[in-house]
Amino acid sequence: MIYIKTPQEIEAMQPPCTLASQTLGELAKWIKPGVTTNRLEAIAREFIRDNGGNPACLGYAGFPAAVCWEVNETVVHGFPSNYTLRDGDILGTDIVVEINGFNGDMCYTFPVGEISPEVKALCTTTKEALYKGIEAAKEGNRIGDISNVIQTYCEARGYTVVREMCGHGIGRKMHEDPEVPNYGKKSTGPILRNGMCIAIEPMINLGSRHVIIEKDGWTCRTRDRKPSAHYEHTIAIHGNTPRILTTFSYIEEALQERYI
Ligand code: MF3
Ligand code: CO
Repeated sequence: MIYIKTPQEIEAMQPPCTLASQTLGELAKWIKPGVTTNRLEAIAREFIRDNGGNPACLGYAGFPAAVCWEVNETVVHGFPSNYTLRDGDILGTDIVVEINGFNGDMCYTFPVGEISPEVKALCTTTKEALYKGIEAAKEGNRIGDISNVIQTYCEARGYTVVREMCGHGIGRKMHEDPEVPNYGKKSTGPILRNGMCIAIEPMINLGSRHVIIEKDGWTCRTRDRKPSAHYEHTIAIHGNTPRILTTFSYIEEALQERYI
């Protein structure tokens, strides 16, 4: 069942979305060659708790961390580890924060040091596809309009779309109806109504679209071990222009300061 939020409930979605955004802004300062994902996980957990939030992924269906760590070929749901980031890696950081019973979900794929132009283009296209999807998230449109624009945009540039994992409704639960696939046909699926909150999250591969789940039961990686990029925002449907509840502005600010 798709739950339409009241204006008060949409307001209550904002604090966890803002704290998720600030947490990724904090991580942006630390993501560089030489740091382990275990260390970054500790920084994220402490930042969330110090700022009055709960790390909603930690313990969710047994997931062992506050953040899903997506190094290179890892598509989603990677564990933190003693892996030391290297120049040229990419690192997706997918986070869910809960405050007062509401959830904010977002993801950003960071370059580590200097990355190849090929991988940089994959990341740029995936981020652009997320914003194309958001543009299609208008009242009266359908879920398939979001799905179709993401698929079309990425495939036209030679990339492939992961099909096993989707975006989703979000609110009091991290995952609510409807599913928001990153591929599909225009004018299909549930109609978008004001007050619907959804997380849009394209997962886009450089090589083939196929993925496997590792023996740990969680870590999802590309079958061909080529890189995958992932960006996500939580939004509320609001007429022709949705409210984007999460933001990359803290991340962008931190990344710019690094080069000054
Ligand atoms: N954004 C991710 C998702 O929607 C968050 C997963 S948290 C986890 O699947 F606990 F399930 F890993
Ligand atoms: Co999500």
